[in-house]
Amino acid sequence: MLKKKIEDICNRQIEREGYSSNLYIAMASWAENNGYSGVAGWLYSQSDEERLHMMKFIKYINERGGKAVMPALKKPGTEYKTVEDLFREVLKHEEFVTASINEIVALTLEEKDFNTHNFLQWFVMEQVEEEASVRTILDKVRLVGKNNMYQFDRDIQSLRTPAASGQTAT
Ligand SMILES: [Fe+2]
Ligand SMILES: [Fe+2]
Repeated sequence: MLKKKIEDICNRQIEREGYSSNLYIAMASWAENNGYSGVAGWLYSQSDEERLHMMKFIKYINERGGKAVMPALKKPGTEYKTVEDLFREVLKHEEFVTASINEIVALTLEEKDFNTHNFLQWFVMEQVEEEASVRTILDKVRLVGKNNMYQFDRDIQSLRTPAASGQTAT
């Protein structure tokens, strides 16, 4: 049986993963409206992954005898100055999510909840990968994007690795 404290913080993470999913759809929509179909494709896939992250928490809480709650999600922004700005926001958001996962990990140790600690290890690794992949994209947009956004938009589609596709999430 999940301790209340752990259940609550895992429910908080449902909200954060759900918001991530919506945020990336909002960003994809902006990219689509501004002619960046490659960027939009990357963001839509990212949004699918975030939904899977949310589902993992929902299923985990329920499996352990807790109650997963679907919260209201705040409305993401709709305007971005540039693609570089957009990805800077993605990185900032992923860093926030990493800190959030780390807080849950710390609480599981405090509460000696080793099952939840174990469950979270997948997310710890996933955040390392996600931050690294967004940093790579930011490097590319700075290098290539300045002179050739067309090339950047085309190349971003090859930057999704199969491991990051979220297909392994259950
Ligand atoms: Fe996530
Ligand atoms: Fe993420």
